Amino acid sequence: MADYDNSYSSHNAVFGEKPEKILVDFYKQIDNSDPILDIGAGQGRHSLFLAQNGYAVEALEPSKIGIEQIQNIAEKNSFPIFLSQCDLSDFEPRVDYYSAVLIFGLLQILTRDEIDSLIKSLYDWTAEESLIFITSFSTEEPTFESHKKNDKEVGKNSFVDSKGMLRTYLEPNEILEMFPNYKVLHHKEYLGEEHHHGDGIMQQHAVIEAVFKV
Ligand SMILES: C[S@@+](CC[C@H](N)C(=O)[O-])C[C@H]1O[C@@H](n2cnc3c(N)ncnc32)[C@H](O)[C@@H]1O
Repeated sequence: MADYDNSYSSHNAVFGEKPEKILVDFYKQIDNSDPILDIGAGQGRHSLFLAQNGYAVEALEPSKIGIEQIQNIAEKNSFPIFLSQCDLSDFEPRVDYYSAVLIFGLLQILTRDEIDSLIKSLYDWTAEESLIFITSFSTEEPTFESHKKNDKEVGKNSFVDSKGMLRTYLEPNEILEMFPNYKVLHHKEYLGEEHHHGDGIMQQHAVIEAVFKV
Protein backbone atom coordinates (compact mmCIF):
# COMPACT_ATOMS: atom_id res chain seq x y z
CA MET A 1 0.00 0.00 0.00
CA ALA A 2 3.10 2.20 -0.14
CA ASP A 3 1.90 3.85 -3.37
CA TYR A 4 -1.43 4.84 -1.86
CA ASP A 5 0.29 6.00 1.36
CA ASN A 6 2.58 8.23 -0.75
CA SER A 7 -0.13 9.78 -2.85
CA TYR A 8 -2.51 10.22 0.11
CA SER A 9 0.32 11.96 2.04
CA SER A 10 0.87 14.39 -0.84
CA HIS A 11 -2.77 15.21 -1.66
CA ASN A 12 -5.91 15.52 0.45
CA ALA A 13 -8.27 14.35 -2.28
CA VAL A 14 -6.47 12.11 -4.78
CA PHE A 15 -9.76 10.85 -6.26
CA GLY A 16 -11.59 14.16 -5.82
CA GLU A 17 -13.53 15.70 -2.95
CA LYS A 18 -16.97 14.68 -4.11
CA PRO A 19 -18.57 11.24 -3.76
CA GLU A 20 -19.42 9.30 -6.94
CA LYS A 21 -22.69 10.51 -8.46
CA ILE A 22 -24.31 7.06 -8.22
CA LEU A 23 -23.95 7.21 -4.43
CA VAL A 24 -25.48 10.68 -4.28
CA ASP A 25 -28.32 9.51 -6.54
CA PHE A 26 -29.09 6.28 -4.64
CA TYR A 27 -27.97 6.64 -0.99
CA LYS A 28 -31.44 7.61 0.22
CA GLN A 29 -32.60 4.10 -0.77
CA ILE A 30 -30.17 2.55 1.74
CA ASP A 31 -31.92 1.14 4.82
CA ASN A 32 -30.37 2.90 7.82
CA SER A 33 -30.83 0.04 10.28
CA ASP A 34 -27.53 -1.74 9.53
CA PRO A 35 -24.14 -0.13 8.85
CA ILE A 36 -22.61 0.42 5.41
CA LEU A 37 -19.30 -1.16 4.43
CA ASP A 38 -16.94 0.96 2.29
CA ILE A 39 -14.29 -1.40 0.87
CA GLY A 40 -11.05 0.30 -0.19
CA ALA A 41 -12.34 3.52 1.36
CA GLY A 42 -9.24 5.51 0.31
CA GLN A 43 -9.35 8.98 1.86
CA GLY A 44 -12.98 8.56 2.80
CA ARG A 45 -14.92 10.68 0.32
CA HIS A 46 -17.82 8.15 0.36
CA SER A 47 -17.68 7.11 4.04
CA LEU A 48 -17.59 10.76 5.14
CA PHE A 49 -20.45 11.76 2.83
CA LEU A 50 -22.66 8.97 4.23
CA ALA A 51 -21.68 9.64 7.84
CA GLN A 52 -22.47 13.32 7.34
CA ASN A 53 -25.91 12.24 6.20
CA GLY A 54 -26.53 10.19 9.34
CA TYR A 55 -25.50 6.68 8.23
CA ALA A 56 -23.23 4.43 10.31
CA VAL A 57 -20.26 3.42 8.17
CA GLU A 58 -17.38 0.97 8.42
CA ALA A 59 -14.40 2.07 6.32
CA LEU A 60 -12.08 -0.80 5.31
CA GLU A 61 -8.79 0.52 3.98
CA PRO A 62 -5.25 -0.94 4.10
CA SER A 63 -3.49 2.43 3.76
CA LYS A 64 -2.45 3.74 7.19
CA ILE A 65 -2.43 7.31 5.87
CA GLY A 66 -5.90 6.95 4.34
CA ILE A 67 -7.29 5.58 7.63
CA GLU A 68 -5.66 8.41 9.64
CA GLN A 69 -7.10 11.04 7.29
CA ILE A 70 -10.61 9.58 7.62
CA GLN A 71 -10.20 9.30 11.41
CA ASN A 72 -9.15 12.96 11.75
CA ILE A 73 -12.19 14.27 9.90
CA ALA A 74 -14.56 11.80 11.58
CA GLU A 75 -13.31 12.76 15.07
CA LYS A 76 -13.54 16.50 14.39
CA ASN A 77 -17.14 16.10 13.26
CA SER A 78 -18.19 13.27 15.62
CA PHE A 79 -19.12 11.18 12.57
CA PRO A 80 -20.18 7.54 13.19
CA ILE A 81 -17.38 5.82 11.23
CA PHE A 82 -15.74 2.58 12.38
CA LEU A 83 -12.27 2.16 10.87
CA SER A 84 -10.77 -1.19 9.83
CA GLN A 85 -7.19 -0.84 8.65
CA CYS A 86 -6.72 -4.13 6.80
CA ASP A 87 -6.70 -5.83 3.43
CA LEU A 88 -9.94 -7.30 2.12
CA SER A 89 -8.45 -10.81 2.40
CA ASP A 90 -8.05 -10.38 6.20
CA PHE A 91 -11.39 -8.68 6.80
CA GLU A 92 -13.81 -10.05 9.41
CA PRO A 93 -17.23 -8.37 9.39
CA ARG A 94 -18.24 -6.86 12.73
CA VAL A 95 -21.97 -7.22 12.09
CA ASP A 96 -24.18 -9.92 10.56
CA TYR A 97 -25.17 -7.77 7.59
CA TYR A 98 -24.39 -4.49 5.91
CA SER A 99 -27.23 -2.43 4.45
CA ALA A 100 -24.93 -1.43 1.58
CA VAL A 101 -21.46 -2.28 0.35
CA LEU A 102 -19.40 0.28 -1.58
CA ILE A 103 -16.85 -1.05 -4.07
CA PHE A 104 -15.65 2.16 -5.68
CA GLY A 105 -12.50 1.94 -7.80
CA LEU A 106 -11.46 -1.42 -6.36
CA LEU A 107 -12.23 -4.24 -8.81
CA GLN A 108 -9.67 -2.96 -11.32
CA ILE A 109 -6.84 -3.40 -8.80
CA LEU A 110 -7.85 -6.89 -7.64
CA THR A 111 -6.91 -10.19 -9.30
CA ARG A 112 -9.64 -12.32 -10.86
CA ASP A 113 -9.43 -14.72 -7.87
CA GLU A 114 -9.81 -11.83 -5.42
CA ILE A 115 -12.82 -10.54 -7.36
CA ASP A 116 -14.46 -14.01 -7.31
CA SER A 117 -13.84 -14.33 -3.59
CA LEU A 118 -15.28 -10.84 -2.93
CA ILE A 119 -18.44 -11.68 -4.90
CA LYS A 120 -18.89 -14.86 -2.80
CA SER A 121 -18.37 -12.91 0.44
CA LEU A 122 -20.99 -10.35 -0.59
CA TYR A 123 -23.66 -13.06 -0.36
CA ASP A 124 -22.73 -13.47 3.34
CA TRP A 125 -22.27 -9.80 4.16
CA THR A 126 -25.57 -8.53 2.75
CA ALA A 127 -29.25 -9.21 3.47
CA GLU A 128 -32.40 -8.80 1.40
CA GLU A 129 -32.73 -5.15 0.24
CA SER A 130 -29.01 -4.39 0.75
CA LEU A 131 -27.48 -2.29 -2.02
CA ILE A 132 -24.12 -2.84 -3.72
CA PHE A 133 -22.41 0.11 -5.42
CA ILE A 134 -19.64 -0.51 -7.96
CA THR A 135 -17.40 1.52 -10.24
CA SER A 136 -14.68 -0.09 -12.29
CA PHE A 137 -13.00 -0.04 -15.72
CA SER A 138 -13.79 -1.94 -18.91
CA THR A 139 -11.75 -3.31 -21.80
CA GLU A 140 -12.89 -0.24 -23.79
CA GLU A 141 -10.23 1.70 -21.83
CA PRO A 142 -7.88 3.53 -24.27
CA THR A 143 -4.79 1.89 -22.67
CA PHE A 144 -6.23 -1.64 -22.72
CA GLU A 145 -4.56 -2.73 -25.98
CA SER A 146 -1.13 -1.56 -24.81
CA HIS A 147 -1.54 -3.56 -21.54
CA LYS A 148 -2.47 -6.58 -23.66
CA LYS A 149 0.55 -6.13 -25.90
CA ASN A 150 3.22 -5.17 -23.34
CA ASP A 151 2.26 -6.59 -19.94
CA LYS A 152 2.06 -10.03 -18.41
CA GLU A 153 -1.48 -11.44 -18.50
CA VAL A 154 -2.18 -13.04 -15.10
CA GLY A 155 -5.91 -13.70 -15.53
CA LYS A 156 -8.75 -12.87 -17.90
CA ASN A 157 -8.08 -9.27 -19.05
CA SER A 158 -5.86 -8.86 -15.99
CA PHE A 159 -2.28 -7.63 -16.37
CA VAL A 160 0.83 -6.87 -14.31
CA ASP A 161 3.11 -4.22 -15.82
CA SER A 162 6.90 -3.88 -15.50
CA LYS A 163 6.50 -1.92 -12.23
CA GLY A 164 4.37 -4.70 -10.74
CA MET A 165 1.10 -2.72 -11.01
CA LEU A 166 -1.98 -4.89 -11.53
CA ARG A 167 -4.97 -3.81 -13.65
CA THR A 168 -8.03 -5.96 -14.27
CA TYR A 169 -10.59 -4.93 -16.89
CA LEU A 170 -14.15 -6.23 -17.25
CA GLU A 171 -15.66 -6.75 -20.68
CA PRO A 172 -18.66 -4.60 -21.63
CA ASN A 173 -21.70 -5.80 -19.61
CA GLU A 174 -19.62 -8.46 -17.83
CA ILE A 175 -20.54 -6.84 -14.51
CA LEU A 176 -24.16 -7.95 -15.07
CA GLU A 177 -23.03 -11.59 -15.50
CA MET A 178 -20.97 -11.34 -12.31
CA PHE A 179 -24.02 -10.34 -10.25
CA PRO A 180 -26.75 -12.45 -11.90
CA ASN A 181 -28.98 -12.82 -8.83
CA TYR A 182 -29.34 -9.14 -8.03
CA LYS A 183 -31.87 -6.55 -9.15
CA VAL A 184 -30.18 -3.91 -11.33
CA LEU A 185 -31.07 -0.40 -10.10
CA HIS A 186 -28.46 1.29 -12.29
CA HIS A 187 -25.97 0.20 -14.95
CA LYS A 188 -24.02 2.46 -17.28
CA GLU A 189 -20.76 2.10 -19.21
CA TYR A 190 -19.11 5.09 -20.87
CA LEU A 191 -15.82 6.77 -21.74
CA GLY A 192 -15.05 9.29 -18.97
CA GLU A 193 -13.47 12.74 -19.21
CA GLU A 194 -9.68 13.10 -19.40
CA HIS A 195 -8.34 13.86 -15.90
CA HIS A 196 -5.39 13.31 -13.58
CA HIS A 197 -5.08 12.19 -9.95
CA GLY A 198 -2.91 14.46 -7.80
CA ASP A 199 0.27 15.12 -9.83
CA GLY A 200 -0.27 12.00 -11.97
CA ILE A 201 -0.36 11.75 -15.76
CA MET A 202 -3.51 12.49 -17.79
CA GLN A 203 -5.83 9.47 -17.96
CA GLN A 204 -9.11 8.56 -19.56
CA HIS A 205 -11.17 5.65 -18.25
CA ALA A 206 -13.85 3.42 -19.74
CA VAL A 207 -16.06 3.60 -16.67
CA ILE A 208 -18.48 0.94 -15.47
CA GLU A 209 -21.11 2.02 -12.92
CA ALA A 210 -23.58 -0.32 -11.27
CA VAL A 211 -26.00 -0.30 -8.36
CA PHE A 212 -27.45 -3.69 -7.44
CA LYS A 213 -30.13 -4.60 -4.90
CA VAL A 214 -30.09 -7.97 -3.14
C1 LIG B 1 -8.56 3.64 -6.55
S1 LIG B 1 -8.59 3.77 -4.80
C2 LIG B 1 -10.29 4.21 -4.51
C3 LIG B 1 -10.52 4.83 -3.17
C4 LIG B 1 -11.97 5.18 -2.84
N1 LIG B 1 -12.85 4.01 -2.94
C5 LIG B 1 -12.49 6.27 -3.73
O1 LIG B 1 -13.26 5.98 -4.65
O2 LIG B 1 -12.11 7.43 -3.50
C6 LIG B 1 -8.55 2.09 -4.29
C7 LIG B 1 -8.37 1.88 -2.79
O3 LIG B 1 -8.47 0.48 -2.52
C8 LIG B 1 -7.50 0.13 -1.54
N2 LIG B 1 -7.15 -1.30 -1.75
C9 LIG B 1 -6.28 -1.81 -2.64
N3 LIG B 1 -6.22 -3.15 -2.53
C10 LIG B 1 -7.09 -3.48 -1.53
C11 LIG B 1 -7.45 -4.70 -0.92
N4 LIG B 1 -6.93 -5.87 -1.32
N5 LIG B 1 -8.35 -4.68 0.09
C12 LIG B 1 -8.89 -3.50 0.48
N6 LIG B 1 -8.57 -2.30 -0.06
C13 LIG B 1 -7.68 -2.29 -1.05
C14 LIG B 1 -6.33 1.07 -1.81
O4 LIG B 1 -5.53 1.23 -0.66
C15 LIG B 1 -7.04 2.35 -2.25
O5 LIG B 1 -7.23 3.24 -1.17
